[in-house]
Amino acid sequence: MDSPLLQPYRGPALHLPNRVAMAPMTRSRADDATGVPVPLMGDYYAQRAAAGLIVSEGIWPHRLGKGGPGVPGLTGAEHAAGWRHVTRAVHAAGGRIFAQLWHVGRVSHPDLLDGELPVAPSAVAITGERIYTAGGERDYVVPRAMSASDISEAVTSHARAARLAVEAGFDGVEISASYGYLVSQFLSDSANLRTDAYADRVRFAVEVTEAVAAEIGAGRTAVRVSPGNRLLGIVESDPAPRYHRLLEALGGLGLAYLHVVQSGTYAALADLRPRWQGTLVATYDDQQPVTPERAEEAVRGGLADVYAFGRAFLANPDLPGRIAAGAALNAPRESGFYGGGAEGYLDYPRLGEAVPVTAG
Ligand SMILES: Cc1cc2nc3c(=O)[nH]c(=O)nc-3n(C[C@H](O)[C@H](O)[C@H](O)COP(=O)(O)O)c2cc1C
Repeated sequence: MDSPLLQPYRGPALHLPNRVAMAPMTRSRADDATGVPVPLMGDYYAQRAAAGLIVSEGIWPHRLGKGGPGVPGLTGAEHAAGWRHVTRAVHAAGGRIFAQLWHVGRVSHPDLLDGELPVAPSAVAITGERIYTAGGERDYVVPRAMSASDISEAVTSHARAARLAVEAGFDGVEISASYGYLVSQFLSDSANLRTDAYADRVRFAVEVTEAVAAEIGAGRTAVRVSPGNRLLGIVESDPAPRYHRLLEALGGLGLAYLHVVQSGTYAALADLRPRWQGTLVATYDDQQPVTPERAEEAVRGGLADVYAFGRAFLANPDLPGRIAAGAALNAPRESGFYGGGAEGYLDYPRLGEAVPVTAG
């Protein structure tokens, strides 16, 4: 019960009853044709309302930002109405929820985009990996390099989605600048070969963040980065100076939080924590889901103010209660991660509940 994760958090712009956040996780259960959230999703997030903060699965802020079947969107009134159901359910259960805005850029395919080509900083395809579409796996295509007007449209789409998110009842938004998606592509050496002002790598991330903050207020705006991550063909040679510049540019805005995913060899948390005066949310991304003990260490040691759990929260709707009780955790079942219905989604038991017979 004396876990530092269970202490309330009062940051400049963020007040949370505990430091156990739920990391954003795509679950691919929205209506595929429209991207509108389905009622099941309200039940799923409400089950996890004991989190200090829930960050939603990635949501496309622009029609060209969709990266998989069943990924939800937030570009119009119909989406907002679907999300309102989700945010009401979370708030009724006592929780708080940010929307993760997730434009995937080149991590898409014409089959996911009504035949249109994906867009990216430069016309460089991902090689050696394939993408999952409703029709099966496909090779990545060479994306269309974004024009100046494409870039300004992408920036504006984040601001518009942020406005819709607030109207839909979200407590704020987290911009995905992590894991090889559009903003992260601009931050990288391998996907950004531009020779214009965006060649500096950080400009696009800053423009998106400033546009969102101008639209809904910096105190409701957050950014997620994964410095040094090598997924999806991303190379960031020498990430430290690049992220120092990014933090300098974002530091004065008064954001709700910076979310740092640490994976690979760059010790991003130790390096970036002293350079970030605001609230810092951390996630370690290793092969195995992180243990509460490791997250506690990060908070106790001052590397993070709040810790965001992915798979442990997916599999344990009552994760803060289990940490308080020092109880064992349910193991996540990968077969139910993406797509499908309630199975592998709503059926993880709380402490003391019987394990459903379908679990296995
Ligand atoms: C099923 C699944 C879906 C994910 N979807 C997203 C996503 O939409 N956006 C994102 O930023 N990270 C996503 N992630 C990464 C997680 O947020 C987290 O960084 C990662 O799983 C490591 O944390 P963990 O070990 O606690 O699971 C996803 C992870 C999983 C397992």
